[in-house]
Amino acid sequence: MLQQTRLYTGLIIAAFVIPHLLNHSVGLISLTWMEAALEYFIGFWHHPVATLMLYGSVLTHFLLALWSLYHRTTLRMPFWQLSQLVLGLSIPPLILAHVIGARLSHELLGTTATYEATVQAIWNSEYGVLRQTSLVLVVWIHLMLGLHYWLRLKPDYRRWIAFWQLLATLVPLLALMGFYRVGLTLADQAVEPAAASGYETGIDDSTSPAAGGYDDYGGYEDGYPSGAVVSKSTKTEVDQTLDWVRNTMPLVFWGSLTLTLVLRGARLGWSARRARVRVRLPAQNQLRARQGQTLLEALREAGIEHSSVCGGRGRCTTCRVRIMEGLDQLPPADDTERQALEGVQADDDVRLACQLRLTSDLSVVPLIPYQQRFSYLRKPGGVEGIEQQVTVLFIDLRGSTALAEARLPYDVVFILNQFFAEMASALEETDGHYAQFNGDGLMALYGLDGDFEQGARQAIRGAQRMLHRLDGINQRLEKELQQPLRVGIGIHSGEAIVGTMGPPSAPIRSALGDTVNTAARLEGQTKHLGVPLLLSRHSAEVAGLALETLEQRQLPLRGRDQLLDVILVKEPAKLAW
Ligand code: FES
Repeated sequence: MLQQTRLYTGLIIAAFVIPHLLNHSVGLISLTWMEAALEYFIGFWHHPVATLMLYGSVLTHFLLALWSLYHRTTLRMPFWQLSQLVLGLSIPPLILAHVIGARLSHELLGTTATYEATVQAIWNSEYGVLRQTSLVLVVWIHLMLGLHYWLRLKPDYRRWIAFWQLLATLVPLLALMGFYRVGLTLADQAVEPAAASGYETGIDDSTSPAAGGYDDYGGYEDGYPSGAVVSKSTKTEVDQTLDWVRNTMPLVFWGSLTLTLVLRGARLGWSARRARVRVRLPAQNQLRARQGQTLLEALREAGIEHSSVCGGRGRCTTCRVRIMEGLDQLPPADDTERQALEGVQADDDVRLACQLRLTSDLSVVPLIPYQQRFSYLRKPGGVEGIEQQVTVLFIDLRGSTALAEARLPYDVVFILNQFFAEMASALEETDGHYAQFNGDGLMALYGLDGDFEQGARQAIRGAQRMLHRLDGINQRLEKELQQPLRVGIGIHSGEAIVGTMGPPSAPIRSALGDTVNTAARLEGQTKHLGVPLLLSRHSAEVAGLALETLEQRQLPLRGRDQLLDVILVKEPAKLAW
């Protein structure tokens, strides 16, 4: 829940930041275009609902960062995560001046910000350009880290990674170039800051100071946007309010950060007095951890590397461990952990190290060795896998045990090799990817290139080609076989975790998840139903098969709460689109 809230509030903030930077980059064309684009964006940004969403998201995002800081029992974390935290906490002090100058002062005066006034004010203030440049870079890197570690498990993101990298570089670069160009142009034109900015004193009291531009914070000081008529009393009021904000907000920020760290220290001090639990690991390793720590925190604190691709956010499941002892003492998984584990069809004794809070002694076995990450990370999918929509095909040779018992081993190997050679050819003909071998059958994946519909169609064609080639074997070996070889094929389409798996010396690209299990169970059902091919209705729909003439049924399958709509295919060669 907290992770989700952090993600959504971050996305809302990004929806403001990205157009804002794009608006800056329009400065490369001209100031006039920049102002015109600003007018367009301001219509959206200044809408009360948008304003509420933005400020609400900023506040929530900040409070969640403090909460996460308070809750951590160790500050040991991957470098990217530490960078994201530090950059995120640098934003409030950096952005305060900009918010006061470019928004708050105008809201209090009832005027609208212009690029000309804002850029000039920043340009004229000491360190203004440096501060603004730092702000853009800090906000952008923080945002990119968040987006990258959120999206990195998504297949479309991986596929377009070069494009995203280009975008991640160009957006801040062009924004800063637009800002510099306009700033330099205005500086060249400036005779006097007030005259150059086009500001006029809108104060109706002749004794009021003349327009003077913006102060060091980039906010208004004595000048007012052109056309604003401001009474002296309003000016005094606005001055006081801005001074209050300028002085109070840093206190609030540093105060809340300090308070968080103090409370965290007190909490850790208190928990240090509480009982410690012992965590036993493979190879006789063990560690002592505080009750209430997550297992991942305890491992990190002990300097033990452990896979955690999403940084402990309950999204990737690479931190999962099998509980060998102490399972019955553990608190139940919360929603985040439960959903993540269900997503990979984890066994009941598997838990996520990043979500599991220690309450008693445990014995665990990590399921994804840490060292594999680095060697596999550059391979398609990587060891951590990506979520991808694929079609999974399982084929199994019927009666292989009887075949083995009735023949010499050499004959069996010869027949099986013929069988697998033909099935491999069928895969090649239909762009199928061989993903698993299980003695007398195999698993294949379709649609790995990202075309889900085409993958489903090719899987069905693959099944047709396999059966056609099986007929060929049966004809060729008619004299050697007491009875023709028969197979069962199951096909299902959906989301799966696709990645490079297996021992480091011989990894293959394969898949895990409910879709894979369902396809395997469909294949198992072909025997009882007496059909060579059983495919889920979902696969048939994705492939665009004409369903009207096909025999359909609802089938209970092990591991599924609901019946599955399936299609029984007695004559696969006759399937038509
Ligand atoms: S580290 Fe990603 S789910 Fe635990």
